[in-house]
Amino acid sequence: MIRSPQNATEWDAYYDLRYNVLRAPWGQAKGSEQTSDEAQQQHFAYFDDADELLGVGRLDQVDAQTAQIRFMAVAENQQGKGIGKAIMEEIEGISKEKGIQKIILHAREIALPFYQKRGYHLVEKSHLLFGEIQHFLMQKHL
Ligand SMILES: CC(C)(COP(=O)(O)OP(=O)(O)OC[C@H]1O[C@@H](n2cnc3c(N)ncnc32)[C@H](O)[C@@H]1OP(=O)(O)O)[C@@H](O)C(=O)NCCC(=O)NCCS
Repeated sequence: MIRSPQNATEWDAYYDLRYNVLRAPWGQAKGSEQTSDEAQQQHFAYFDDADELLGVGRLDQVDAQTAQIRFMAVAENQQGKGIGKAIMEEIEGISKEKGIQKIILHAREIALPFYQKRGYHLVEKSHLLFGEIQHFLMQKHL
């Protein structure tokens, strides 16, 4: 099931997963996985049948027609099982309901094929995170 975290324990698990997958391997401090505007954004967490949180993603509204996907992460030992795909499909479905016409995202180089399979096209090379992780701006028209 994919839904927003609903209590303090689930929020901790949500940010822990984000931190463990996207920040800890690069020696970043706890807290670096969050931005100051979390409360304004839409959060997606994948829970398995035992209610364990295995994947996360965030949807930010950019303007009336545009949204941005951020902080996509699946627990390391659960990758490659379709969880990321399920989160993307949920986010895109919600986006369509909201009248969003275009989704943008900054993909890590290693995740480019994942997003290409979902119909995202490379726009341009973007930022270098932590001095080493090259990102690429991608977009998809819904
Ligand atoms: C990238 C990530 C979110 C994908 O989620 P996932 O659950 O592992 O991916 P899925 O199992 O849903 O894969 C969906 C499809 O994409 C493919 N895919 C996923 N990651 C891939 C990769 N790195 N390279 C090539 N193909 C990939 C899968 O083979 C699968 O193909 P299929 O539909 O033909 O079977 C996840 O692997 C992850 O958290 N990686 C580390 C953190 C990261 O890089 N996050 C993205 C930041 S931009």
